[in-house]
Parts: sequence; C-alpha cells; structure tokens
Amino acid sequence: MVRIRGDEKVLILGIESSCDETSCALVKNGREVLSNEIYTQIPIHVEYGGVVPEIASRNHLIKISDVVDNALKKADCQLEDVDAIAVTKGPGLVGALLVGLNYAKALSYALKKPLIAVNHLKGHLLSPLLSYPDLEPPYMALVVSGGNSYLAICHDYDEIEVVGASRDDALGEAYDKVARTLGFEYPGGPKIDKAAKQGDGKAIDFPRVYLEPDSLDFSFSGIKTAVLNYINSQKQKGLEINKDDVAASFQEAVLEVLVNKSIRACQKHNMDKLVVSGGVAANSRLRGLFNKETAQNNIAIYYPAFEYCTDNAAMIASAAFYVDKLNNEDSLRLNANPALSL
Ligand code: KG4
Repeated sequence: MVRIRGDEKVLILGIESSCDETSCALVKNGREVLSNEIYTQIPIHVEYGGVVPEIASRNHLIKISDVVDNALKKADCQLEDVDAIAVTKGPGLVGALLVGLNYAKALSYALKKPLIAVNHLKGHLLSPLLSYPDLEPPYMALVVSGGNSYLAICHDYDEIEVVGASRDDALGEAYDKVARTLGFEYPGGPKIDKAAKQGDGKAIDFPRVYLEPDSLDFSFSGIKTAVLNYINSQKQKGLEINKDDVAASFQEAVLEVLVNKSIRACQKHNMDKLVVSGGVAANSRLRGLFNKETAQNNIAIYYPAFEYCTDNAAMIASAAFYVDKLNNEDSLRLNANPALSL
C-alpha cells in the first residue's frame, strides 16, 4: 500500500488511455473518488466498426490536457495537492498507452511526485472497491472486458493468482463480433444487451463450450462462427432472421458457461465473495444470472458501479494506492507494455 505521508490522506491522480477512452481521476486513499473524467472516442470509431489504433492515439493527444484539467477542477484540487501520479502501462494499444504514459511521466518529473505504473487488468479487478467501502480481499474476481477475460483469486490487494482465462477471444470481443454480424453499431455489447431483452434465449441452441471437464478456461471464438453459420443457413432457406432471438440465444450460450465456471471457481477455491468487473459486467442478463446463481450458492456478488465498468482512470488511481512498490526510481525509463498479463 502506498505510504507517502504517514497516515494522512493520500491523493492520487490517475491517467488511463489504453484504448478509446481518455480518462483522468483524483482518488483519495484508494476509495474516495473526487473526480473521474472520461472522454470517450466511441462516436469517432463507430464509422469504422471498431477502434482504429492510429486515430485513437491522435485523439488521446488532442484531449488529454483538457481531461486532466477538468478532473482537477471537478475535484477542486491543484496539481500541487497530488501525492502521486498513476498511469496504465498495459495491456492495450501501444500508441494509445504511450500518450497517457508520457503525459504522466512529464507530470511526475515536473511536480517531483512518484509515478506508479498500473496494470489495466488489475484496475478492473480492484474496481468494485470504489463502490463497496467495506469490500476487502480475499475474493474471486471475474474480469470480462473488450480485450480480456480472466478468473483470478485476489488473495490480497497486490497478490493475484490467475485460475482461468480465455484461450482465444475476450468475451467483449465476442459480443462485438456477433453484434457486427447482426449489423449493430460498435460497440456491440450494449446493443446485444438491449435486443436480447425482446428475444427468446431458447430460440436457437448455440454451443456451450466448457473445454476439459476441470478447466476454468474459456473459449469464445467459436460462437461467432456458430452465429454466422446460423444466419447463412437461414438466408439460404429464404427464412427471416429474428435478430432479437439471435442476440438472446447467443447471450444464453456464453453466459451459461461464464456463470457456471465462475461458481465452480469459487467452490473449488473456497471463496464466498465474487467480484465481476470489466465492460461486459454492465450487461443486464449477466447480472441477473449471477445474482440468481450466487444467491443459490451462498456467494456474495459485487459489481463496480456502471461508470467504473468500462475503462476509467478512477480504477487506475485506486489500484495504484494498493501497489506496495513505488516505481519512481525508474519512472522516466518506464515503457508501455501492450501485451501485459495479470
Ligand atoms: O472494459 P472495457 O471498456 O474495455 C477493455 O478494457 O477492454 O469494455 C468494453 C467492452 C466492449 O466489448 C463492449 O461491447 C462491452 O465491453 N460492453 C458490453 C456492455 N457494455 C459494454 N457487453 C455486453 N453488455 C453490455 N451492456
């Protein structure tokens, strides 16, 4: 845990720029969010059907100063009040990461404040701490975002053990690919969520991929092919495609596996708390299924507030508070790591 001024409150300015959100937050003692500014580039990338890395980097550069200024203003803080600068070092798009990283390095150098590099996945994993003041490790964590899907035991704030992961596509990626097949705009996850509410989840029997009997890993890449095959076969037969039914049936297939494996992971590792975070944790059907199954298995369930589900700097500033080694000594040599794992 960061100990900068004894027992006084520690104020961390966090910067996140790993994909298509430019974000800056001010967080006190890892839990109290004073501001969390997020500028999303989604409207810019919609016309390309996904994030274009070069465009993302350029827009981070254009926006980052304003986002940091606004975060300071909303928190009613000056740069001099900040005790440390936290920044996402990976995983993500390298050009996008470098914008935030270099901005953070410059702040750290100019202000002579420590720089704390944060793993983006760890930010997601600890993000429910921002919504539940009494939540403490140990807990089982499921991170389901656009780039990653992990099951990990959070033994302590800085002691994480991965027990399962996707072997191919991340769950958010599967949502986005299936959505594109159905002609929904990027990002597809929220559109599938909405369409599925009007659909019949039992209409189409898409495969449930469990892998080996004891495995806590996932595989989501086959489902998009299954959806594509279904759509093509319907078209060949001259039959109509009910997009709501496809969306609902796709969700049932992936979420059944996700929920069952997460419950199994808790039972296998004797965990009675399950944290579900990352962009897909905003999904309403996911929350409904997890609420039901965890209640039946005496597991307490925690989700971050919606604003902390998708990429945000508050979770980065919070995670930085719990990093017990300051990276100040190598701050100016710090590099982005686009393929960083947990
Ligand atoms: O956590 P995030 O912002 O990105 C990464 O850090 O990778 O998550 C973005 C992902 C996208 O794939 C998006 O489609 C998905 O989260 N997502 C959803 C929902 N809201 C966002 N997926 C399903 N249902 C939602 N309501």
